[in-house]
Amino acid sequence: TKKIIIAIDGFSSTGKSTMAKKLANQLGFIYVDTGAMYRAVTLYAMQHNLVAKEYTNTEDLIASLPQIRLTFTLNEQLGFAEMYLNGVNVENEIRTLEVSSFVSTVAAIPQVRQKLVEEQRAMGKEKGIVMDGRDIGTVVFPEAELKLFLTASAKVRAERRFKELTDKGDNVSFELVLENIEQRDHIDSTREDSPLKKAEDAIEIDNSDLSREEQFSLILDIVSKN
Ligand code: C5P
Repeated sequence: TKKIIIAIDGFSSTGKSTMAKKLANQLGFIYVDTGAMYRAVTLYAMQHNLVAKEYTNTEDLIASLPQIRLTFTLNEQLGFAEMYLNGVNVENEIRTLEVSSFVSTVAAIPQVRQKLVEEQRAMGKEKGIVMDGRDIGTVVFPEAELKLFLTASAKVRAERRFKELTDKGDNVSFELVLENIEQRDHIDSTREDSPLKKAEDAIEIDNSDLSREEQFSLILDIVSKN
């Protein structure tokens, strides 16, 4: 395949990263999970008491941004890259419901977005990349050769996320997971800076009733026609 930029955007827990990862593997492209970057900044804020329930120290978080170093390092065993925060592997820690409950607030801060978008653009310089997030097709790479926008009902998404968390041994309630998804949808799509929305030239896929396999072959089909 020709080296292109593939942007995958959509609401929380639509299975973007699973699809993006599979697609990157298939094409021999790099995969970048931009949500992991926002989650890692959020974890940093939590570790430094800059964010807590109903409290965000935006000013100090902005001042700390130069101290936050994000890197993706390949896990040879698993065959994909993991998120490192200042040299520490935080891949598991960033996936908790606690991080999920603060991440959209942190991601709404323009200075945070500016830093991460800059790093994301640098990673896409050579093309041959699949990047997933909320603003990839609209802001990070408006010129991406292929843009996909994934959707699914909130209930279906919460069921998937609930299963994922409980499979990992996280003791969470379905109601809290659903609440978190609806809350993130709301904050992500109504924020002032780079709100989540479908790029005009993105192809929308509602996967509420699609299996992973069905969706993947649909996407491969779209890629081959691109
Ligand atoms: O993709 P994931 O669900 O891990 O993203 C976590 C959060 O990070 C999102 O709910 C959103 O607030 C933020 N995010 C963003 N822009 C991106 C990727 C993620 O604002 N490109």
